[in-house]
Amino acid sequence: MASVTCTAPVNIAVIKYWGKRDTELILPTNDSLSVTLSQDILHSKTSISAQAEFDQDRLWLNGKEEDITKNKRMHNCFRETRALRRAMEEQDGSLPKLSTFGVHVCSENNFPTAAGLASSASGLAALVFALAQLYKLPIDMSDLSRIARQGSGSACRSLFGGFVAWETGKEDDGSDSRAVQIAPDTHWPELEALVCVVSDKKKGTSSTSGMQQTIESSPLMQERLRVVPGRMAAMTQAILDRDFPAFAELTMQDSNQFHSVCLDTYPPIFYLNDTSRGIIQLIHAYNKLHGGYKAAYTFDAGPNAVIYAPKENMKEIIQLIHHYFPAGQDTPRDVYFSDPYQVFQDDAA
Ligand code: DP6
Repeated sequence: MASVTCTAPVNIAVIKYWGKRDTELILPTNDSLSVTLSQDILHSKTSISAQAEFDQDRLWLNGKEEDITKNKRMHNCFRETRALRRAMEEQDGSLPKLSTFGVHVCSENNFPTAAGLASSASGLAALVFALAQLYKLPIDMSDLSRIARQGSGSACRSLFGGFVAWETGKEDDGSDSRAVQIAPDTHWPELEALVCVVSDKKKGTSSTSGMQQTIESSPLMQERLRVVPGRMAAMTQAILDRDFPAFAELTMQDSNQFHSVCLDTYPPIFYLNDTSRGIIQLIHAYNKLHGGYKAAYTFDAGPNAVIYAPKENMKEIIQLIHHYFPAGQDTPRDVYFSDPYQVFQDDAA
């Protein structure tokens, strides 16, 4: 029996991925860029084993077995990594024939699953990374990111630490749609992220179906596709220059535009709630009071806020959040605090 355990971090996009040009291969309509968060706080931990006696691939998620017979995306990840392993076994007859064995996967998140906290990103990244370790694939992270992308688009960015772009690519077969690291976590250690869990309920509209509905019905999406390339260039420069004001402005504008295209989708998709909107107002008021950018918010497909700010402002921001949103229903009950951090902790035996 061969087995391996890996953890993978969550990434939170500052230029959002929303829309696919190919739903099978998971090819996006625009480039995106994210910050990988410290996996001390939020991570997926995945153990996998391959054994000759296992007649099928099976998954236990947070302790409960899930039926994956129709889970095409997971099967894509198994198929792609197995094909690479099979090629190695054909070349070297002495290798164990792991590619012919079933694989059992046990995965847990140490944070709410499917509540818009990027659990699919860390979960699928952990699975693909674990398969690459198990099969001892001689593959670099960018190439592996093309496989993770086929599990869940945003997962490709969780294979790197620090600041990561997912390049849309031009090829129809997806061969150039991959993640690349813009800068490592050590590049900007003053930047920190605060994750405010406004609600840990499972979201009403999944990212996968939400973005498809947007592509089919939102005229505003065309405008988004027009502005994102300029934003990607400006965001990359802001990160390279450690220019927080530019980073903050672009982050908030992109989050707002993403939620606007959700609202422009027909029927509309609502991910933000009153608390989310309260946090948006609070951050703008805080920035205005100081006459500059002290903090930036961003929201994925859910009501939970991620606030990016220089370390020196974080204490004050946490106090403000606690003051204006005291514990209670639909308030940020858990506040996770995290630096961008280097990625995988590989516990492989
Ligand atoms: C709003 O990666 O979850 O978080 O590719 O269909 O699995 P699929 O979607 P997913 O979408 C993430 C959307 C987002 C923005 C982002 O992370 O860039």
